[in-house]
Amino acid sequence: MTMKHRLLALLLLCCALVAGCGRTDKAGAGASALVVGFSQLGSESGWRIGNTASMEQAAKDWGFGLMLENANQRQDKQIAAIRSFISYQVDVIVFSPIVQTGWDNVLNEAKKAGIPVILMDRMIDTGDDTLYTAYIGADFLAEGRRAGEFLKRKADATGAEHMNIVEITGTEDSTPMRDRQAGFMEAIAGDGRFEVIESVSGDFLRSKGEECMRDLLKRYGPEGIDVVYSHNDEMTLGALKVLDEAGLKPAEDVILISVDGQQEAIDALKAGRVNCIVECTPNLGDAVMALVDALSKGEAIPKRNHPEETVFTEFDDLSGLAPRGY
Ligand code: AHR
Repeated sequence: MTMKHRLLALLLLCCALVAGCGRTDKAGAGASALVVGFSQLGSESGWRIGNTASMEQAAKDWGFGLMLENANQRQDKQIAAIRSFISYQVDVIVFSPIVQTGWDNVLNEAKKAGIPVILMDRMIDTGDDTLYTAYIGADFLAEGRRAGEFLKRKADATGAEHMNIVEITGTEDSTPMRDRQAGFMEAIAGDGRFEVIESVSGDFLRSKGEECMRDLLKRYGPEGIDVVYSHNDEMTLGALKVLDEAGLKPAEDVILISVDGQQEAIDALKAGRVNCIVECTPNLGDAVMALVDALSKGEAIPKRNHPEETVFTEFDDLSGLAPRGY
């Protein structure tokens, strides 16, 4: 961060703190001096943008100052942001790790500085659990299983004997990528009807989802792919574009299973262009701030915290579904 950026961040933080003073907030009087340093990993998806908005809104609701740094998909930027939070001596660090590995050094620095760390949305690989105080985010393994369970239900309904599956995965080495894949494989394991013919990385980006689908279609042909399991809605929407261009009927000629539940994808599901969307909620802000508040009061907090999530499928009546907000 340049000196200009530091000054700007400090100015914004002061404004947030001044705005928080003298108003009644969820945490009660006096708590508005709390400062949360939040390292967001990027803006790659509607989910991510919704998640950032949820954190910003929750910080306001709770009367906490929020120092937000967006790493634009770069781990080195996240590490630099965490270091800047340490030097500002924020009260709590919240961050959403882009990948699982490579965090021990910087988290040791936070630990030495006595700053608690909450992992939000994604997990890390570490041999030392004391490097973070809590994790709050989806149970990605359960999400993957839900995707697999849907496929089994669909195969039962259609009487399919064999299905060629292509998987478009999220960012390599990220928690949702690893666990959505593992959960899905676990759910379909031992069922001879299913064959995953290829897994390719679409990095959670719509443009890459499109690129992957184009390439897969070119190599396997329209007859060679029965199912697309895509790790997020952005990539699914990219794949949809390619299927449309190829003159295929999405959700009929090719089964589409997605994850997230952002409005545009839900609209596609309602229009019969997607078969299943496993929900992953980005609305974690309020629960994160509740943990921050508890920590500031010296209360013990659970190490793992999962929001409740569901699955939306072509078999459900979705007419009463509230607008998703992301
Ligand atoms: O970590 C959550 C995932 O990250 C969401 O499924 C995806 O859309 C986002 O980019």
